[in-house]
Amino acid sequence: MSGNVRPETMERINTPELARSFIEEQIAEIRAQVGDKKVLLALSGGVDSSVCAALLIKAIGKQLTCVHVNHGLLRKGEAEQVVNVFGKELDANLVYVDAVDRFLDKLAGVSDPEKKRKIIGAEFIEVFAEEARKVDGIEFLAQGTIYPDILESKGVKAHHNVGGLPEDLKFELVEPVKLLYKDEVRCIGHELGLPDSMVYRQPFPGPGLGVRCVGAITRDRLEAVRESDAILREEFAAAGLAGKVWQYFTVVPPFTSTGIKDGKRTDDWMVIIRAVNSVDATKATIEEIPYELLYKIRDRILAEVAGVNRVLYDLSPKPIATIEFE
Ligand code: XMP
Repeated sequence: MSGNVRPETMERINTPELARSFIEEQIAEIRAQVGDKKVLLALSGGVDSSVCAALLIKAIGKQLTCVHVNHGLLRKGEAEQVVNVFGKELDANLVYVDAVDRFLDKLAGVSDPEKKRKIIGAEFIEVFAEEARKVDGIEFLAQGTIYPDILESKGVKAHHNVGGLPEDLKFELVEPVKLLYKDEVRCIGHELGLPDSMVYRQPFPGPGLGVRCVGAITRDRLEAVRESDAILREEFAAAGLAGKVWQYFTVVPPFTSTGIKDGKRTDDWMVIIRAVNSVDATKATIEEIPYELLYKIRDRILAEVAGVNRVLYDLSPKPIATIEFE
């Protein structure tokens, strides 16, 4: 796709027919741009990079190498889903990098939120660059840049974070969805046959669970975030709320509180549930979760998540709070 300005005449892609014709056009454009050369893509498993990958796989198959970096801050089941969908079902060239220890070692003891974000971003570039150097003859870098990225940040896909690659890894960009809005990208993804849980999922920050394991990340607390988040998502899906609520997740602060179990005092973590509605994340209101559902989620978290003795529900709108805790 050439040019960074969406033509006023461009129709909003919101039907299977429009999606199919966009896909056909892009396949032809990608083939024309890339020829028989190799393309690299950082595949997070989010909507944008997944749709971009699926388009490229359709256009150029094994000329594309996808690199999935597991930084340890992904939600439960996410890395497995990337491997299943792209490595197995779509038979893509997929490099799976288990970088969990690298990231968590670098983050150990770091409590400042911006320092945490910087470490995650820098480490991601380093891991991705290392993998890029291992693949011979790459000439192109595919990115799931979408139109709001161009409008909001002058084309820098902050959460994909491959913009800062070292000089020896400057590739020509392939950005097939860069003029599309999010709903259009989802429409394309659906038409390409990607699973709904990938295409219609809630926004998820680049630093992942790292900003929900508040303060200095420890492995036990990170697991408490991951397990409680999985329970919340499961129960929201069962109650028909997934896809209706803008963002819902759990947070575990870096301090404990007293509890009681089997007649003995405990000193354990607390899980905070956050569920908000928003249009563009600049403002947010609270989702009114029925008490019955809250009790069910609470019971499951207290029974199934190790090291937790308390569950709270955050009632704060944005402003005055932000959506994430840090
Ligand atoms: P806040 O917490 O600022 O969040 O109200 C607004 C939206 O942005 C997401 N968010 C991030 N996304 N990298 C991202 O890619 C980040 O560092 C980051 N921090 C917050 C947040 O999930 C919400 O949707």
